[in-house]
Amino acid sequence: MSKVVSTLTLQKYKSEGRKIVALTAYDYSTAQILDRAGVDLILVGDSLAMVALGHRTTHAVTMDEMLHHTKAVTRGAQSALVVADLPFMSYQVDVTQAITNAGRFVKEAQAQAVKLEGATKLNLEIVERLVGMGIPVMGHLGFTPQSVHGLGGTRVQGRTAEEGARLFHNAMALQQAGVFSLVLEMVPSIVAKMISQRLTIPTIGIGAGNDCDGQILVTDDLLGKYTDFKPRFVRRYANLAESCQEAIKNYAKDVTNREFPDSSESFAFPPDEEAELRNLIDEEEVVRGELTC
Ligand code: KIV
Repeated sequence: MSKVVSTLTLQKYKSEGRKIVALTAYDYSTAQILDRAGVDLILVGDSLAMVALGHRTTHAVTMDEMLHHTKAVTRGAQSALVVADLPFMSYQVDVTQAITNAGRFVKEAQAQAVKLEGATKLNLEIVERLVGMGIPVMGHLGFTPQSVHGLGGTRVQGRTAEEGARLFHNAMALQQAGVFSLVLEMVPSIVAKMISQRLTIPTIGIGAGNDCDGQILVTDDLLGKYTDFKPRFVRRYANLAESCQEAIKNYAKDVTNREFPDSSESFAFPPDEEAELRNLIDEEEVVRGELTC
């Protein structure tokens, strides 16, 4: 029987020193593949804005688009914990807006948790309120893509002692507010290690070295399916873009050469009905011809 992962499972994995395996998914079939491969946590990341919708940043994706994709992912995931990313400007206005949108993820899309970026005063209040009403929240610190313009580009965060200490301070504040886990993105390994050792909740790293309690990658990066750019921290385990293009070229060749479909890929008609079918079609043609004269 497959395990069903909850926030408590992840906490247990941290205390046992078992690494947490997390990946992104934006659709049903990908969620099924990840789930059947034993992935613990599936994030419907707002990276879908770039990877699935072709935007240059994560900003453009809307709450309704995120809901649409989250519904597909929760249909495909039987065991993994599904976390939905609150998109840009779906929680930054006030607590009421954040509660309304987090609630939609749980109520309409069956997500089990939500994620938000940063540790502003408002975010800490949002986390406390959501956790208080039974909605688990994941934090996200380090490089936070929704703040890419404010951060001056896609850059490693926490590169000085002071910045690293600020990250630690924010991580502790989020933990205290009640997040069940924390993503650390593009943070020097030693900073991520110090934070991971001191937090009681599990950290999930992306470009944050090998000492986080778990790792997450964008699945399309790992599979070599999204090829606009490859961050340094991505390891490619397949080259799907290339193999898919090859498969599609072969399909096009077979169609052009009349080699697809063959009889095993088509539906037969009873041979003794063929003559009758011809008659009926001929008759129909004659009637139509008379009608248009
Ligand atoms: O949106 C996303 O995919 C993410 C992960 C990369 C952590 O936030």
